[in-house]
Amino acid sequence: MLRQSIERVIKRNAPKEKAECVVIGAGIVGLAVARELSLKGKEVLVLDSAPTFGTATSSRNSQVIHAGIYYPPNSLKARFCVRGRNLLYQYCSQRGIPHKQIGKLIVATGPSEIPKLNQLFNRGILNGVEGLRMLDASEAIKMEPELHCVKALLSPASGILDSHSLMLSLVGEAETKGTTFSYNTTVIGGHLEGNQMALHVSETKTLANWDGNTPLQPDLILIPKFVVNSSGLSAPALAKRFRGLNTATIPPAYYARGSYFTLSNSNSTRHPSFKHLIYPIPEEGGLGVHVTLDLDGQLKFGPDVEWIHHVPDTTSFLNRFKYSVSAERVLRFYPEIRKYYPNLKDGSLLPGYAGIRPKLSGPGQPASDFVIQGEGIHGVSGLVNLFGIESPGLTSSMAIAEYIAVMLLGG
Ligand SMILES: Cc1cc2nc3c(=O)[nH]c(=O)nc-3n(C[C@H](O)[C@H](O)[C@H](O)COP(=O)(O)OP(=O)(O)OC[C@H]3O[C@@H](n4cnc5c(N)ncnc54)[C@H](O)[C@@H]3O)c2cc1C
Ligand SMILES: *[C@@H]1O[C@H](CO)[C@@H](O)[C@H](O)[C@H]1NC(C)=O
Ligand SMILES: *[C@@H]1O[C@H](CO)[C@@H](O)[C@H](O)[C@H]1NC(C)=O
Repeated sequence: MLRQSIERVIKRNAPKEKAECVVIGAGIVGLAVARELSLKGKEVLVLDSAPTFGTATSSRNSQVIHAGIYYPPNSLKARFCVRGRNLLYQYCSQRGIPHKQIGKLIVATGPSEIPKLNQLFNRGILNGVEGLRMLDASEAIKMEPELHCVKALLSPASGILDSHSLMLSLVGEAETKGTTFSYNTTVIGGHLEGNQMALHVSETKTLANWDGNTPLQPDLILIPKFVVNSSGLSAPALAKRFRGLNTATIPPAYYARGSYFTLSNSNSTRHPSFKHLIYPIPEEGGLGVHVTLDLDGQLKFGPDVEWIHHVPDTTSFLNRFKYSVSAERVLRFYPEIRKYYPNLKDGSLLPGYAGIRPKLSGPGQPASDFVIQGEGIHGVSGLVNLFGIESPGLTSSMAIAEYIAVMLLGG
C-alpha cells in the first residue's frame, strides 16, 4: 500500500532523464570503473553524495599497495590484488603518481607464530606473488635494526602510494573522455520498470534534514542502461532500497573502524625508525596494527579493529560515521607495537585518523571475499553491485574496473 503510493508520487512529480552508464560513488573503485568505461567509449555519469571525490574510505586507509599474500587462492581478493598491483605500478609510473615499492616484512615475534608465517608464505606463492622470501631474525634485523622478531617473510612487491594523486589522475582522465561528475548527489533507491532500471536521485542537502523514517522523495529519476554501484559503506543500505531487487542476494553489512596513531615529531621523519612496511601476523577483522610510511617518511601505526553496531542508513548514505580517533585507544597500541618494536617510547604516539571497513562478515566469522553481483546473481540486466570492498580494494581498483567492463560490455 505504502509502496504503491510512493510510486504514484514519484511518477507524478520527479523529472526523468536517460543516461548510458551511471556509477554510484566516486571512491577509488567508482573512479577506476568510470575511467575504464569511458575509455571503452561509454558515456558515464558519476554520482557522489559528498561535495567531491574520495572523501570516504578511499582517503582513510593505509595507502599500501598490497602484494596479494593473505587471501585464499583463486578468491577475487587474491586475483584482483595481484592483477591490480601490476596495473597500479604501471599506471603510477606512466602518470608520475607518487609511489614507492619499499617492500614489506611480515614478522613472527615468537616461535608460536612461525607456523602462521609459513602458511602465509605458501599462500602467497599459490597466489602468484613474486619474490617472497623467508628471513632469519638476523637477516631481518640487518634490514631493520629497530625490529624484534624470530622470523620474517619479506615481500619485495609491496609498496606505498599517494591515493589522492591517483584519484585525481583517474578523475582527469575520465573527464577528458567525457565523463560527467555530479557531486552533492545521493542515490536514495530505485525500482524496476519492466526490465528497465530507474534510479531515485536526490540532492544531498535535501537528505541532510531527513528523519530517517518518512518516504524519501527523489528530485530526479535516472533511467540508465548500465549501473555500477560502488557506494562503499552504504551499498547494502542502498540495495535494500532498490525495489525489484531480490533482497535474498543482498549480503548483511558489518562495519569495523580502524584507527591510526602517528609517531610524534621528536622522531624525525628524516631518520625514520623503519624503511619497510612492518606487519605482525594478521588478527581477526584486520591485518594487525602495522607500520606504514607516508611518502615523506612519516611513520604511522594502525589500523586496529573496532566493530561498530547499529548503523542507521542515513549514517552510511551521508557518511556520518565517527572518524575521530579516541585517545584512550592508544593504550592497546603500545603493547601491540612493542611486540615488534620494543624501543617505542612512552608518549610518542599521537592520534591520527580513522577509516571504516565495509565488511560482509562479523566478529568471529571467517573473512569474506569481495562480492561483485551481475545479472547472473540478481537478474537485473545492466546492474553491477559491489559489496564488501574492504582491503585490498585500493590495490585492486583497476583490476575490478577491468573485470566490470568485461562483465557489462563483454570481452
Ligand atoms: C582502515 C582501512 C585501511 C585500508 N588499507 C588499505 C590498504 O592499505 N591498501 C588497500 O589496497 N586497501 C586498503 N583499504 C581498503 C580500501 O581503502 C577500500 O577498499 C577502497 O577505498 C574502497 O573504495 P570504494 O570506491 O569502494 O569506496 P569509498 O571510497 O567508500 O567510496 C564510496 C563513495 O560512494 C559515495 N556514496 C555512498 N553512498 C552513496 C549514495 N547513496 N549515493 C551517492 N554516492 C554515495 C561516498 O560518498 C563515497 O565517495 C583499507 C580500508 C580501511 C577501512
Ligand atoms: C556541495 O555542497 C557543499 C556543502 O553543502 C557546498 O559547499 C559545495 O559548493 C557544493 N558543491 C557542488 C559542486 O555543488
Ligand atoms: C546500487 O545502487 C542502486 C541505486 O539505488 C540500487 O538500486 C542498487 O540496489 C544498489 N545496489 C547495491 C549493491 O548497493
